[in-house]
Amino acid sequence: MDPIGEIVAYEQAALAAISNVTDAPALEAVRVEFAGRKHGRMRDVQALLGKADPAERPLLGKRFNEAKTSVETALEARQKELARPKSIAGGLDLTLPGTPLRLGKKHPLVQTIDELKDIMGRFGFSVAEGPEIEDEWHNFEALNIPEEHPARDPLDNFYLAAASVAAANAGVPASASSGPVLLRTQTSTVQIRVMEQQQPPIRVVSLGRVYRPDTMDASHSCMFHQMEGLMVDRSVTMAQLKTVIRMLFSSYLEHDVSIRFRPSFFPFTEPSVEVDIPWGDDWMEIGGAGMVDPHVLAAVGYNPDEFTGFAFGLGIERLCMKRHAITDIRRFYENDVRFLRQF
Ligand code: PHE
Repeated sequence: MDPIGEIVAYEQAALAAISNVTDAPALEAVRVEFAGRKHGRMRDVQALLGKADPAERPLLGKRFNEAKTSVETALEARQKELARPKSIAGGLDLTLPGTPLRLGKKHPLVQTIDELKDIMGRFGFSVAEGPEIEDEWHNFEALNIPEEHPARDPLDNFYLAAASVAAANAGVPASASSGPVLLRTQTSTVQIRVMEQQQPPIRVVSLGRVYRPDTMDASHSCMFHQMEGLMVDRSVTMAQLKTVIRMLFSSYLEHDVSIRFRPSFFPFTEPSVEVDIPWGDDWMEIGGAGMVDPHVLAAVGYNPDEFTGFAFGLGIERLCMKRHAITDIRRFYENDVRFLRQF
């Protein structure tokens, strides 16, 4: 065979042997056979070069060096491969970096709700729950909102059609499913449910969704969240109401917050106030509050001469917007991960 043929044959045989071995000892044997310094076949091929025609030597030398490099590179690469932990059946390579999983997070409103429950818990308020589909007794009547009151206008409420109601109320006690029902417009419904079940002293909060046929804009939504608070005992005062709300806001917003009470009217509180917090150079209404109206205490069977109470209903979105400087309430409902990821 001519010297070039020898070099090529050597190279091919070496590369084939290297790729055929399956463990490190076998590879070492191949290395000794093909590239060993003392008796390896590489030396035999190199020896041929010395016998070749001097005119051919430069070309042969170049080709020999190429073969030598490719064999040495292949040996090194195969050695690294065999040093890696074995892949398991199915070709899964355990040494490859994993695909990162992005962890989900709680929605900012859920985070806010959790935090508010926590703060109110430290003030001694426990959490009460109520249904989102309500009857007129809990949403209106017991809250001193009589039949002819404008707040009961069908245009201002989401009344439900009978068929959907039957389905929604499956499993709900019969008392709640007779008569018209609607999506609750306020969490004040839960005040009634709690007082129907328990005797004073009462300290509860209830947080959840409420529904109103409002036009959506930057600060209004037809569905939003409220936190209701109720405290009833023998001598509950308006001063306690203001203190609890101020401490709640200061704790949630993590700085001392001044609040403003504006005289207002709610059928179920007397006196009633609107609660404002500073918003830039202005004030922002964050909810309503007041002393529980004696009519309401009587409606649930309490003695209004014995007990007094305060109640408040606050917009959870607005509190969260204030803390995080969010300027549009609609961001909460769009499920845009670029927004949600920031909380
Ligand atoms: N329920 C009232 C509203 O939604 C707020 C409120 C709650 C006012 C409790 C007074 C007492 O506007």
